[in-house]
Amino acid sequence: MNVQISVMLNVIWYYLCALKTTQMTNRTFTMIKPDATKNGHTGGILEMINKAGFRIVAMKMTHLSKEKAGEFYAVHKERPFYGELVEFMSRGPITAAILEKDNAVEDFRNLIGATNPANAEEGTIRKKYATSIGENAVHGSDSDENATIEGDFFFSKLEQF
Ligand code: CMP
Repeated sequence: MNVQISVMLNVIWYYLCALKTTQMTNRTFTMIKPDATKNGHTGGILEMINKAGFRIVAMKMTHLSKEKAGEFYAVHKERPFYGELVEFMSRGPITAAILEKDNAVEDFRNLIGATNPANAEEGTIRKKYATSIGENAVHGSDSDENATIEGDFFFSKLEQF
């Protein structure tokens, strides 16, 4: 009898774990950049994000200082475009957000399209709203690890829902 109960409990535990795994969602981080903000595309971009099935779990409009923009993009410090990137990202307001969806990082990168809008596919956010590789309307995290780092850069844990 005890053995049967133990087996039953193990089976229930196994199914609960499997259910939890299949329901697991993950997150990515995005910024609507100063070019898209200035051109009035914030609403249109948020609509595309919503229609693609992402849930907004944190969001704020803010204006990065040069120092903060430099810190956020520190990974690109040695690149020739770093100065231009920091200048651009601190030029005007942005909208920062954390998005939730299954396979969030990859699906969001597909939604925004290639870094250079000239190479972005039809129907992507950058194809529709970006003007150049430097001023490319939106940012999207490139890995789960960076999504967490970038989300935490803008939002305290109390601001992530
Ligand atoms: P993002 O996805 O925010 O990540 C790094 C950013 O650097 C990228 O979008 C572009 O805005 C910018 N970037 C990448 N390559 C270039 C480049 N060759 N010239 C200017 N800016 C670039």
